[in-house]
Amino acid sequence: MSGTLVLGGTGFLGAHVAAVAHRLAFPLATMAEPQGPPVYAIGRDPDDAPRFCDPREGIVWIKADLLTEGRFQRLTETCDPDFVINAAALSSVAACEADPELAKRMNTDLAREVAKTCAANKLRLVHVSTDQVFGETAPPESGFTEDAPTAPVSVYGRTKADGEQAVLEEDPAALVVRLPLLYGNSGGRGRGASDALLEGLHREERPTLFVDEWRTPLEVSTAAEALVELAQELPEVTGLLHVAGPDRISRFDLAVAILRAMGLDADAARAELDAASCTEYDGPAPRAGDVALDATRAEKMLETALLGIGDGAQRAMK
Ligand SMILES: NC(=O)c1ccc[n+]([C@@H]2O[C@H](COP(=O)([O-])OP(=O)(O)OC[C@H]3O[C@@H](n4cnc5c(N)ncnc54)[C@H](OP(=O)(O)O)[C@@H]3O)[C@@H](O)[C@H]2O)c1
Repeated sequence: MSGTLVLGGTGFLGAHVAAVAHRLAFPLATMAEPQGPPVYAIGRDPDDAPRFCDPREGIVWIKADLLTEGRFQRLTETCDPDFVINAAALSSVAACEADPELAKRMNTDLAREVAKTCAANKLRLVHVSTDQVFGETAPPESGFTEDAPTAPVSVYGRTKADGEQAVLEEDPAALVVRLPLLYGNSGGRGRGASDALLEGLHREERPTLFVDEWRTPLEVSTAAEALVELAQELPEVTGLLHVAGPDRISRFDLAVAILRAMGLDADAARAELDAASCTEYDGPAPRAGDVALDATRAEKMLETALLGIGDGAQRAMK
């Protein structure tokens, strides 16, 4: 019985992808096959990954360094999956600036290798990309559509944009999904927009949030549901797709919404935060101002509801 292979299954997004794929597989279980189609979650340190599903045994965790030559090919031979979701990346903007060569290997070269192998073996590939392929210029009011030219401002954005192109060159049947800023439960690891914020507050810091960094954020488990649906249920969808929330909001206001979902009123929430402008920012990595995505196409084809900030923040706080 074949199943779903989640690269980056130990990460913030990938752990949710593995849990969603497992939940969907479970109703297909029979007495003879009590687990349903298997879900393989790949990372270098599976023991440390959060578990977002029950029972934990339903997911096969595999320790693997994907930068080892031929490792992905061998995984496909061992696991024999139908579906591959690639959420493995060097995802930190600062880490990419610090080590552009590693960023290229993870975000571009590995993306190409995975796509080439998937094409050769006719495996359905959904590759995860980012709104950070934009940033140099502002989008139209409704956000960037899939046909807008990429214009990244960081090494992260550039290597991800090159990765998208590599995937579609190698595997025209693949789908590249651009996601926006994600927030939600990171299993206590301080990853993603909301947990990073809450961790900072827990350390009694005053997080600085930018009032002119515009995003169309999405709650992470919602993004995971959309990715699994696109991989398993919608194989005819290929090329590029924007999967994002319906609300265009600044990072500052997103932080306020998250704190409000925790029970603070708006004034109390604002009082916890420092507001800043990204045009005056002088940190180690360039910041993308407005990278709002237009997800109209995805909304029309998905059963998964792309939650707005109100419902998404409530879900994130559960
Ligand atoms: N987080 C966001 O807000 C956001 C927004 C838009 C798009 N995205 C995209 O979503 C995807 C997932 O991002 P994320 O936030 O979940 O990042 P993350 O938490 O940093 O996860 C990255 C994953 O890649 C794995 N990985 C890194 N190097 C590896 C290697 N050499 N071998 C095997 N696995 C390796 C990591 O596993 P180990 O470290 O355990 O090996 C981890 O599972 C990325 O493509 C990112 O560009 C994220």
